[in-house]
Amino acid sequence: MKKIFSGIQPSGIVTFGNYLGAMKHFVELQQDYDCMFCIVDQHAITVPQDPATLREQKRKLAALYMAVGIDPKQSTIFVQSEVPAHAQLSWIMQCISYIGELERMTQFKDKSEGKSGVSAALLTYPPLMAADILLYGTDIVPVGEDQRQHLELTRTLAERFNSQYADIFIIPEAKILGRRIMSLQDPEKKMSKSDANTKAFISMLDDEKTMTKKIKSAVTDSDQDVRFDEENKPAISNLLQIYSLLGDEEISAIEAKYEGKGYGAFKTDLAELAVTVLNPIQKRFYDIYESDEVDNVLDAGSDKANEQVQPLLQKAEEAMGLQRH
Ligand code: TYM
Repeated sequence: MKKIFSGIQPSGIVTFGNYLGAMKHFVELQQDYDCMFCIVDQHAITVPQDPATLREQKRKLAALYMAVGIDPKQSTIFVQSEVPAHAQLSWIMQCISYIGELERMTQFKDKSEGKSGVSAALLTYPPLMAADILLYGTDIVPVGEDQRQHLELTRTLAERFNSQYADIFIIPEAKILGRRIMSLQDPEKKMSKSDANTKAFISMLDDEKTMTKKIKSAVTDSDQDVRFDEENKPAISNLLQIYSLLGDEEISAIEAKYEGKGYGAFKTDLAELAVTVLNPIQKRFYDIYESDEVDNVLDAGSDKANEQVQPLLQKAEEAMGLQRH
């Protein structure tokens, strides 16, 4: 069975962007692949996090993975920092990365631009991501469009290591899961859980009232046509995309349904659809979160992951001369 690896940062509560752009697809993929779903807390701390909040968000993310339908009997859910091999291989990946190629990453440019005191880890974030993926002999990495560049770098680093030291890493394929879900307040920006404006994103744990309010106050374009046109109508196109993914309905069918009805009716129905989809997920989430299941699943997950990574880590270290015997 082919191997899949993907990760989500516990840097905030998962948004519709993460869910519709990644998690929802993970649920389908777990039927046909051996899946590792990681909670990447070491990536989250590349920018300052409140320690208690980070701890809580890790458990919440684990409960959400399960609440949306990831079955821990079928897939492995675990926390990155509980598998030290990630950091160990990350060091090796940093040693074969060039500063220039890391500085060219658009996520690094976006997160560091205009800021003073940018952490070195923000720059070395992609070699850690490469380590995550390569450690498991991953064949396929399902991610949103925003991670494409990091995946290309992962392939470059794997090829570089294989040709310079020993041919041990599988070159992983990216599986890009679809268009980016954009901010509800600025359709030029991706929807992000760390956006300072909380109206810009819908969190998977927003209550009914908050979710409805955020959808109704989402920015729209100048006319009243509910029509998909990313270039000229980016805001309504984003809402149509959300509707289509939430309701598993073709965009053309949704356009036909709202022809001549204007944005108001469309937004009211989208809010209703969001509440209908989220209600059962949230109910499952709170049941799981309040039980022992989260810790049991994460303990079993890190045991399984720690076992799997040892042979490859050892081979990589040996190839570079790090092991004494
Ligand atoms: P993160 O935590 O930002 O996002 C998790 C997943 O959600 C996708 N995503 C989106 N998709 C569509 N629209 C959006 N607005 C949107 N926002 C986020 C992301 O593409 C991602 O698939 N660096 C990664 C985490 C990571 C990882 C890995 C992923 C660390 N190691 C190894 C894959 C393999 C990140 O920050 O994702």
